[in-house]
Amino acid sequence: RRKIIIDTDPGQDDAAALMLAFGSPEEIEVLGVCAVAGNVPLRLTSRNARIVCELARRSDIGVYEGADKPLERPLVTAEHVHGKTGLDGAALDEPKMSVRPQHAVDFIVETLRREEEGTVTLCTLGPLTNIGMALRRAPDIAPRVRELVMMGGGFSEGGNITPAAEFNIFVDPQAADIVFRSGIPIVMMPLDVTHQLMTTKARVARIAAIGTRPARVMVDWLEFFERFDVEKYGSDGGPLHDPTVIAYLLKPELFTGRNCNVEIETNSELTMGMTVVDWWRVSGRTPNARVMRHVDSDGFFDLLTERLARL
Ligand code: BDR
Ligand code: CA
Repeated sequence: RRKIIIDTDPGQDDAAALMLAFGSPEEIEVLGVCAVAGNVPLRLTSRNARIVCELARRSDIGVYEGADKPLERPLVTAEHVHGKTGLDGAALDEPKMSVRPQHAVDFIVETLRREEEGTVTLCTLGPLTNIGMALRRAPDIAPRVRELVMMGGGFSEGGNITPAAEFNIFVDPQAADIVFRSGIPIVMMPLDVTHQLMTTKARVARIAAIGTRPARVMVDWLEFFERFDVEKYGSDGGPLHDPTVIAYLLKPELFTGRNCNVEIETNSELTMGMTVVDWWRVSGRTPNARVMRHVDSDGFFDLLTERLARL
């Protein structure tokens, strides 16, 4: 079983990632869920993380609150995609489970120092602020991380929050820069991959056919989430970003990519938060990430549907 910490800003697609992890207890042990400000402010991402834990009947999981704003820049949120609460689409009760008193950054540092070196994987589904803070405060944790698998960035298609930048990296480029320079083995799931994972009507119908409450709520969330792309781009569904991170742990063979050097733009306002991916190895700089480019989309949705059915 792979030990993971999930750092997240739920978000309907973050919720799908959490549920994919909770539906895979044989392969994955979730040590804790850390909330960070991103899609919506921290107060709501923390609430939403707990709602998802309760929906999956995992209120035993520790939810920790981390940074309420990026390291250096003002917080940018994405209510235009996720709705006012971040989890619009299904009316759920306020969570009963409370947040753990420890700060998420302390939890990350302590856990990495406590667990055997090279056994804990960091899964990041939002801005990298908590991880950046942990690395700044405790650089000794970097070599202890087995791998950091992130949803973030994009290169061949440009960005989704500015023409150059993907949302998670754009919100906290300084934190992303710290992470990409940390020496931690990184697997990056960029928009190039997630845009191959559209929640088409047929795929959503298969999830609906599961018939359980978690599956029904997931369908309501996905139908809300996808309306942004359906209305704006006329696509059949929306791109399901964050579950790629968990799917990679379960079935890495679904994805193909290359080891590349990735640098983060932190200076130019025009291209702030751009992930400069050296796909063709023209820079001579040492690769610091495995950048994924293609995914077996039907295989991915088969896996997601199968695991949601286990909840
Ligand atoms: C990322 O931004 C958020 O809106 C999503 O949850 C995902 O993590 C996609 O750019
Ligand atoms: Ca997210």
